[in-house]
Amino acid sequence: MVSKKSFLDLEKIKTELLKYGVKDVNSEIGKIEKQIKSALNSCKEKNKIARKQYKNAIPFSEIYDSIDKLNLPDWVQKKINSARIFGKSKQMIIFPDGEKYQINNPLNNLSGGDWLNFTTSVFSTFYTTKGKDSYAHKIRKIHPSPKPPQLMREIIEFFTKENEIIFDYFMGVGGSLLGAGLSKRKAIGIDLNEKFIKAYKNAAKEIGVDIFPTKCGDCLEIFNNEKEMKSLLNNEKISLVLLDPPYANMMNKEKTGGDIAIYGNNATPFTNDERDFGNLKQTVFFDSLKQSVEFVLPYMKKHGYIVLFIKDLQPNKKELNLLHADIIKKLNEIPNLNYKGLRIWADRSAKLFPYGYPFSFVANQIHQYILVFRKKK
Ligand SMILES: C[S@@+](CC[C@H](N)C(=O)[O-])C[C@H]1O[C@@H](n2cnc3c(N)ncnc32)[C@H](O)[C@@H]1O
Repeated sequence: MVSKKSFLDLEKIKTELLKYGVKDVNSEIGKIEKQIKSALNSCKEKNKIARKQYKNAIPFSEIYDSIDKLNLPDWVQKKINSARIFGKSKQMIIFPDGEKYQINNPLNNLSGGDWLNFTTSVFSTFYTTKGKDSYAHKIRKIHPSPKPPQLMREIIEFFTKENEIIFDYFMGVGGSLLGAGLSKRKAIGIDLNEKFIKAYKNAAKEIGVDIFPTKCGDCLEIFNNEKEMKSLLNNEKISLVLLDPPYANMMNKEKTGGDIAIYGNNATPFTNDERDFGNLKQTVFFDSLKQSVEFVLPYMKKHGYIVLFIKDLQPNKKELNLLHADIIKKLNEIPNLNYKGLRIWADRSAKLFPYGYPFSFVANQIHQYILVFRKKK
């Protein structure tokens, strides 16, 4: 049994569950207890192994004279006095608590544990839209689908090192740019809609992070103008292109079911501009997205990543509408790009609606695909 003094007040949870009519309360509580116990056991086991590894490792100062040329992240430098070197290649730093950092990691500044956690293919979050932890949601909510800056920060921290550049040419109210500001990276953004860019700047001020360069306009037109691109990038190479594209006329469709309760039954396109990717027919959308990636690749560093969010549409009689699969196939046609895999993000704060009730199954899609591509050379 988990002690009642633990951070979870299981008795309180039990009362709440009973209040909401959950039938098998003891079994629900049992499941939570089992999960906590198994997480604790796995931590204990890892800690035991790590302590042994640390004991057998060599003090850092016996291998390296100084940290000057090692380009170590701040968190490693701060506790370098307790660091030891582990493994044959002499590249693995280990700390007394078992945290590890690989000196020749070219991708990010993460510890081994954080790297491993990020590679979980499915994860879910519940981000609040109220108070300080909402990251200025009050300002960002003028956009119909803003991305949580905390989520973008985690992605950015995996695919880049500090001070590297993130580029989002569908920036909206700046989920990616705010995420970059929160993680000591730099960013550049483009959006067709000036109102969204202004809201991003206000949100950055409110949160207290850097305000990065932005450009209002059509991304394809801007990419076509080499001079403009060069001045935007200031001769630096992009490490991560992080995109949340509008697609397949989705926002332009009249709303149905539960969405009416939120948006009314009118279409809510991001803009009425015919260059808006959200207003393109599906086939044109796929081609335009591919074209945009081809344009941007030369401005990226070798082995840089392109990460994009996509949600499938509901299937219908004519189409399966597996947009994520269609996009993977389309972008993988680009010779200098490799598809590397995906993660599935479930947004637990999304409202559920009885779409097909009581006649047929219609999924409440609370998940989005995060597709990962890497530039070859
Ligand atoms: C899904 S939203 C991105 C939301 C963003 N991730 C955020 O956190 O707010 C897509 C954005 O792409 C913009 N957009 C659509 N077509 C564009 C184009 N051709 N060039 C630049 N921006 C475009 C829209 O105005 C919209 O704000």
